[in-house]
Amino acid sequence: MKIGNIKIDGYLFLAPMADVTNPAFRMLCKKHGASLTYSEMISADAVIHGNIRTADRGLSSEEEKPFAIQLFGNSAATIANASVIIEERYSPDIIDLNFGCPANVLVKDGSGSALLYFPEKIREIVSTVCKKVEVPVTAKIRVLHDMKKILDIARTIEEAGASAITVHGRTQAQQYAGKAEHEYARKIKNELSIPVIANGDIFDGCSAKHVIEYTGCDALMVGRASMGNPHVFREISHFLRTGEQLPTNECTQRLEDFKEYVRLLELYGLEEYVDIRMHAQWFTRGIKGGRHVRQGISGTREIKTIVQLMESLCAQSPDMATNNDFHGN
Ligand SMILES: Cc1cc2nc3c(=O)[nH]c(=O)nc-3n(C[C@H](O)[C@H](O)[C@H](O)COP(=O)(O)O)c2cc1C
Repeated sequence: MKIGNIKIDGYLFLAPMADVTNPAFRMLCKKHGASLTYSEMISADAVIHGNIRTADRGLSSEEEKPFAIQLFGNSAATIANASVIIEERYSPDIIDLNFGCPANVLVKDGSGSALLYFPEKIREIVSTVCKKVEVPVTAKIRVLHDMKKILDIARTIEEAGASAITVHGRTQAQQYAGKAEHEYARKIKNELSIPVIANGDIFDGCSAKHVIEYTGCDALMVGRASMGNPHVFREISHFLRTGEQLPTNECTQRLEDFKEYVRLLELYGLEEYVDIRMHAQWFTRGIKGGRHVRQGISGTREIKTIVQLMESLCAQSPDMATNNDFHGN
């Protein structure tokens, strides 16, 4: 598929996730078959004010391409100026605009999902950014209870020049509760000519198959299921290709992925930005006996000790329980 002029091999994307999708984690997901990755959301204001520490989290490497950097903000001029800086400095293939984050700190500021109540502001932001940058601009939205309003917003985003739209089928008020409603993505796909990406509650091959068939969307975006389990991309694509589960020794796989993650964090110099204990805990979720190991992990900052704890878990429990722990996020 193509987003603007960017060719993308495959249709399984890694969602933007704050404190999760740093370049090291994105690379790991790429290795497991994510075809497009998104940075965590970056504040346009921070970019403009030279807050390089924040902006550097969007830093990336040639080998990750194609990747998107996501920006949030409440002013068209600021987001557009930040987009120019981001484009020049980090050469992303795509700039994605956040119209979906429900976090209070953004909503109070008129950013993220707050913008869904101001469609003309969305139009202004998308068209201003599109005029300023060379790369394709995309948008990620949540939904409103009112289907007509959300269809109007999707059309506005397309008219304003966006090259694709991602639809997370939850409202701002839902946060992460309840189920993602994919009827919205299905209707938006029917209405728009640009690619539509469905997002929400895609945790495995079965849910991925259901969402792609039901919505007819061009791509799927996976978020929480990848936290601590980047291998999920391989599992999903295997299922979509063959209709069968990929046989995996998940405990060993998680351990290998965690070690590779640590290597990549060091390679990109990101150790100090990442709460490694929190990430290590995600890598042990769903593993029998994982709770005990998570207690051990929370008591140390030493990566070596964390790896040893995970190794001991694998030695005791080579089989995995279900992945259900992820669903409660
Ligand atoms: C920890 C976390 C951080 C997130 N950060 C962002 C973000 O920076 N930008 C964004 O557009 N969505 C963000 N999201 C929302 C996800 O991109 C995605 O829309 C949502 O998790 C639903 O997909 P899932 O059911 O596959 O997790 C975040 C979600 C989580 C769990």
